[in-house]
Amino acid sequence: MSAATIAPPTTNKHLIRWVDKMADLCQPDRVQWIDGSQAEYDALCNLLVEAGTFTRLNQQLWPGCFYARSAPNDVARVEDRTFICSLSKDSAGPTNNWEDPFVMRRKLKSLFRGCMKGRTMYVLAYSMGPIGSPMSQIGVQLTDSAYAVVNMRIMARIGAPVLAEIDKDTKRVVPCMHTVGAPLAPGQHDVPWPCNDQKYIVHFPETREIWSYGSGYGGNALLGKKCFALRIASNIARDEGWMAEHMLIVGVESPTGEKTYVAAAFPSACGKTNFAMMIPPKGFEGWKVWTVGDDIAWIKPDKEGHLRAINPEAGFFGVAPGTSAKTNPNAMATLARNSIFTNVALTPEGGVWWEGMTDEPPAECLDWRGQPWTPAIAKETGRTAAHPNGRFTSPASQCPSIDPAWEDPTGVPISAIIFGGRRPTTMPLVYQAFNWSSGVYIGATMGSETTAAAGAPVGTVRRDPMAMLPFCGYHMGDYFRHWLKMQRELASTPRVFHVNWFRRDENGKFLWPGFGENMRVLCWIIDRVRGRAQGKETPIGWTPYFEDIRWQGLDFPRATFDTLQTVDRAQWRREIMGHEELFLMLHDHLSSEMIYERELLICRL
Ligand code: OXD
Ligand code: MN
Repeated sequence: MSAATIAPPTTNKHLIRWVDKMADLCQPDRVQWIDGSQAEYDALCNLLVEAGTFTRLNQQLWPGCFYARSAPNDVARVEDRTFICSLSKDSAGPTNNWEDPFVMRRKLKSLFRGCMKGRTMYVLAYSMGPIGSPMSQIGVQLTDSAYAVVNMRIMARIGAPVLAEIDKDTKRVVPCMHTVGAPLAPGQHDVPWPCNDQKYIVHFPETREIWSYGSGYGGNALLGKKCFALRIASNIARDEGWMAEHMLIVGVESPTGEKTYVAAAFPSACGKTNFAMMIPPKGFEGWKVWTVGDDIAWIKPDKEGHLRAINPEAGFFGVAPGTSAKTNPNAMATLARNSIFTNVALTPEGGVWWEGMTDEPPAECLDWRGQPWTPAIAKETGRTAAHPNGRFTSPASQCPSIDPAWEDPTGVPISAIIFGGRRPTTMPLVYQAFNWSSGVYIGATMGSETTAAAGAPVGTVRRDPMAMLPFCGYHMGDYFRHWLKMQRELASTPRVFHVNWFRRDENGKFLWPGFGENMRVLCWIIDRVRGRAQGKETPIGWTPYFEDIRWQGLDFPRATFDTLQTVDRAQWRREIMGHEELFLMLHDHLSSEMIYERELLICRL
């Protein structure tokens, strides 16, 4: 069957013409329009089981769940293969890879020619954000990966209702091309995880297009997530006066029913999902933390000039290792059914396991490469059972802490913005920016130790402005300008904070227990927002007095708190040298406010 022989379930002529044109280019054996139904999802999962991509997990233990292993050369986002192909190199900025869009188009056309031979091309219409919300955006992904389709069904709103939106022709549609880059010759046997050694994750910001070649994994293949909701959306947001941010959103409810929403930016794999699903600790009975999103926030001023945010996603694509009933019971409840696990370990009972899931590892299992794994093998070889970037894909609606307003088409009001990173030294547990522009400076100069999510060497500190370094779809200097400019659109700006759960003592031991105890810091933030808590002025911003943190239920030594909050001038001088490096790189697009903020900081120190 070809695209021409089935009636497309849309009246949108542009869409039909584009699908036909792309089918001519990619030469799939079949074209299938995705309707998003449960029956279709089940059929695709069966197909993936037959192909050996999926293993159906033990349905008594893991109802509705599947297990997948990727190829070992396709386990993470590929930042060095990610391109922003704006018309001018200058618009992409020095933090993005750039290629001339005409050259890149030619290259992609040749790579995509015949790339889907022997495969099905799925036409996947999706909405980022609740369907019909004025804050939502629409994309159509053409993909030869059934794995991408079933994951996207969890991560976004897809199928017939989105096609109906497209038929209304009220919103621009972002075209997204995706192939695993592994055409099949007639009779050629497929592999469980087709992909290509060569990978390209390409964005054309002016024409709002995404082309992804060679990978079937996560952010490289689920194009609604990082490619659209951050890289392309950051361009749309700049042009339209809103913000597309790498932020979680939570609502904190007090025992009296007072609710305050905050958004927080942390670099990849810094515990965003844990923070988004936090369970208040002992002493906080009657408090509740509600989850709106764990990764991405689209934030827009309303008519009155207050920021409101939606989570454009519908699911969680969370890092599995380290997730447990102790560290994140809400995530464990969320992923217990209707979930897809990738690159974790498979137990003999047909269940999944990963490092940190239980205190006791299973006596034996198959690791993420499909090789036998036992604790003894791990001890001898250092091999982990799960890949450090092993993931679960789970519906947000299953999360016990999901906020009743998480699908509100008008979003939730944002009162505070929190930045944070993994910083063994220098950064106190929490401090508050003096004002919006010092807050923008704090976000712009954020740094963090690298983790497994980026495929980069682990353990070095890199500057990651607003946690957007791999995700900002244009010049980072212009992005800071956009942040500063947002103030003009607002009747009141949210208060800005920086947190660091990862400060260590001189023996390398974490000074702060983290997890649910972070609630104490969150409460100080909310008390500040609501004008209830004091702040001590320091050279870097306002910090809490020991007495202003709610310590009930935790016997925390004042001396450790003081160490956590120390502003060490020598460390801060080194820190500012790091800011300087970033600023030198961005200097020709850097606004003077950023320079003034740095000078002010130097003077205060
Ligand atoms: C993610 C990431 O997967 O930030 O969310 O890498
Ligand atoms: Mn992320």
